Amino acid sequence: MRRTLFGMLAGLWLAIGVASAQQPIIIKFSHVVTPDTPKGKAAEYFKKLAEERTKGKVKVEVYPNSQLYKDKEEVEALQLGSVQMLAPSLAKFGPLGAREFEVFDLPYLFDSYEQLHKVTQGPIGASLLKRLDAKGIVGLAYWDNGFKEMTSNRPIRKVEDCKGLKLRIQSSKVLDAQIRALGAIPQVMAFSEVYQALQTGVVDGAENTYSNIYTQKMHEVQKYLTVSDHGYVGYAVIVNKKFWEGLPPDIRATLEGAMQEATKYGNHIAKQENDEALEGIKKSGKTQIIPLTPQEKLVWKKALLPVHSQMADKIGKDLIQSIYQATGFDPNKL
Ligand code: LMR
Repeated sequence: MRRTLFGMLAGLWLAIGVASAQQPIIIKFSHVVTPDTPKGKAAEYFKKLAEERTKGKVKVEVYPNSQLYKDKEEVEALQLGSVQMLAPSLAKFGPLGAREFEVFDLPYLFDSYEQLHKVTQGPIGASLLKRLDAKGIVGLAYWDNGFKEMTSNRPIRKVEDCKGLKLRIQSSKVLDAQIRALGAIPQVMAFSEVYQALQTGVVDGAENTYSNIYTQKMHEVQKYLTVSDHGYVGYAVIVNKKFWEGLPPDIRATLEGAMQEATKYGNHIAKQENDEALEGIKKSGKTQIIPLTPQEKLVWKKALLPVHSQMADKIGKDLIQSIYQATGFDPNKL
């Protein structure tokens, strides 16, 4: 009898041991945009590569469209370890105590993806990610989205047209200063709340990329879209440091490889995704597109450039200068 009991217990112990050895490592990856965006697609591609290459030892659960958490909550969830991976927009690193990421919000800092990549794919980008270590976070990569346009229910062509408009922004001090420089009133709001706020008139307008505007159907509740290209939206992929460093080294190396490829893929499709979204917006016929002539754009640039020096103390003069140098941006030569 005792023998049988011992045998049963031993069997049970073995079974539990085998089961736990087979339990996959779960990575919960939360984000706020739809799967049909540059970030959404890159996240899905990372999941595919990570699961294939670790032969199922890692399972990546992607939660898009603020399904799990909204902007601010997701950052808290990462710090608490309720999720393991995020890709917040670079304008949302303030709550982490990493305001220097707001340098990417400076208006008209980048004219093209090529200029941007000189920063995100070079030593400046790497050193910014490294600074997250002290916050218990590891920065893995930069993912592109694209350039921002203004949307509103009032036609905006000139800077003066923005006067008095209530415009939604992400939680960045640089964006706050930018909207004020236009004579408008900034309103910080989570991404998941923007559509309804535009629809009900809680705000008069917003700024975002074509892909975000189109996939959230914001163009259906905004009469005008101004092609201002006045700023950039992109992301840093971040993980909880304790979790990441606790992974078996071979698994971590495999995941790093998968991340590198997902980054290449995501950054390769970002421009095209935004171009296609613009076509979709045009086809819908719901929004009037207002293009700006080069002269008109120059007036916008001149109005917004003072934001660079105004925010230099908050973000870091040296950081701004190093970006100017890397991209060839010359504030005296517009
Ligand atoms: C926004 O909040 O407007 C965007 O940054 C959302 C995103 O993640 O692209």
